[in-house]
Amino acid sequence: MGAFMNFAVLASGHGGNLQAIINAVKKKKIKAHLKLVVSDRADAYALVRARKANISSVSINPQDFPDREAFDRKVLEHFKNFDIDFVVLAGYMRLLGRRFIKQYPHKILNIHPALLPAFKGVRAIREALAYGVKVTGVSVHFVVEEMDSGAIIMQQAVPISSRDTAKSLATKIHRVEHKIYPQAIDWLARRKLRVVGRRVFLR
Ligand code: GAR
Repeated sequence: MGAFMNFAVLASGHGGNLQAIINAVKKKKIKAHLKLVVSDRADAYALVRARKANISSVSINPQDFPDREAFDRKVLEHFKNFDIDFVVLAGYMRLLGRRFIKQYPHKILNIHPALLPAFKGVRAIREALAYGVKVTGVSVHFVVEEMDSGAIIMQQAVPISSRDTAKSLATKIHRVEHKIYPQAIDWLARRKLRVVGRRVFLR
């Protein structure tokens, strides 16, 4: 147990991915300690999930800070108090600042509901459907300053059928997310990932 890393989850909303992560930690499918959940929204259901699982949680309102850097500093302060080794974004809808990212080189993961580099941003599922692509999917990647642009760790395709609506497609995508994110997190936690430029290899 001693060699386990500590991690924090940042979430803004429903927390479906957070729940999958909580479950995977419990089942030891992620070999790391989930120490802290941080939200930028006090009403995020993710915070309720954290409380129910007895995980420390905090909501930090960006409007209480003069700029992104001051907000990030506050988050980092909490991370320091909890000895956080790596960070997992799970439906976190804010960009992280340069300083923040520098503190955790190749130690911040994000999940995105499309096959990057297609459909970056916060409306990926609707945009893929509206564009008419026949295949979309899920990407897990390292976080860099530019949105949804870091080295890709894992991707899984999700076919779009003519019957799909935004809702049915979201359901399919979320099911895949909840399966692959815990796996990618466990790889990071067990130091299995080797990054060479933009390419990520599994040791
Ligand atoms: C997930 O589908 C995640 O991929 C997406 O938000 C959803 C959050 O759901 N993230 C993005 O769009 C980031 N650009 P959750 O709160 O139930 O985990």
